[in-house]
Amino acid sequence: AKRVRVHHLRQAKERGEKITMLTAYDAVTAALFDAAGVDTLLVGDSIGNTMLGHATTLPVTLDDMLRAGRAVASAAPRSFVVVDLPFGTYEEGPAQALASAVRVMKETGASAVKLEGGRRSAAQIRAITDAGIPVVGHLGYTPQSENALGGPRVQGRGDEAAEELSQDALAVQEAGACAVVLEMVPREVSARITEFLAVPTIGIGAGPEVDGQVLVWTDMAGMTDWSPRFARRFAEVGRLLREAAQEYVADVRSGAFPTADHTFAQ
Ligand code: KIV
Ligand code: NA
Repeated sequence: AKRVRVHHLRQAKERGEKITMLTAYDAVTAALFDAAGVDTLLVGDSIGNTMLGHATTLPVTLDDMLRAGRAVASAAPRSFVVVDLPFGTYEEGPAQALASAVRVMKETGASAVKLEGGRRSAAQIRAITDAGIPVVGHLGYTPQSENALGGPRVQGRGDEAAEELSQDALAVQEAGACAVVLEMVPREVSARITEFLAVPTIGIGAGPEVDGQVLVWTDMAGMTDWSPRFARRFAEVGRLLREAAQEYVADVRSGAFPTADHTFAQ
């Protein structure tokens, strides 16, 4: 199948077809999700929490993202691949943001970058899109600001906060973003933003009235004991994997593995 490209996202919104997104951080899962028909793969800086053992996304480096982005893009022939710009690689201004985005595009084969923030990041989004690089915005709960926001909390509650969020959404669109992720936003607010934006919204904990959905794959697949309230565990892959490992250990210890089938004769 042909690769999903930026105009397909806009088309999907116009046709009322939902856009699907999952995170991926390596070639194995990227190949599985691409084959499953997931439209867009997000190489999220959630790699910090999900894969690298950090407590937050803050320690994630551009090199971490470049390595993961390369793995995902090389294994996903069809999906639109988006790579997060991690904390500290775009806040200084448009020049820093552009330099980071250019490295992602040159070194990974991704289709777009994503960065957090509304009006505060508009100049960065403009500089990157002016260079011909698609940008996805990210509003609502933005994990790179977790120290300022006081941890994962719903954003845009109340008229004033909802208005601020709407202004941010407009600013991101006007700066040239091709889509906007809305994270932990009341459904009425994300519904309104989805209606007035021309570009698609992709929700996570933002209700059903958005143009697309994204989940962190380890939440979606039930890899860990805890998962956020807005996620659904579509499988219990963590349990399956633990059981497979337990069986392997038991069979090696008992001598049930390997058999002649797995053994080379002279
Ligand atoms: O890094 C990430 O996984 C994300 C999604 C939660 C949108 O930014
Ligand atoms: Na992210």
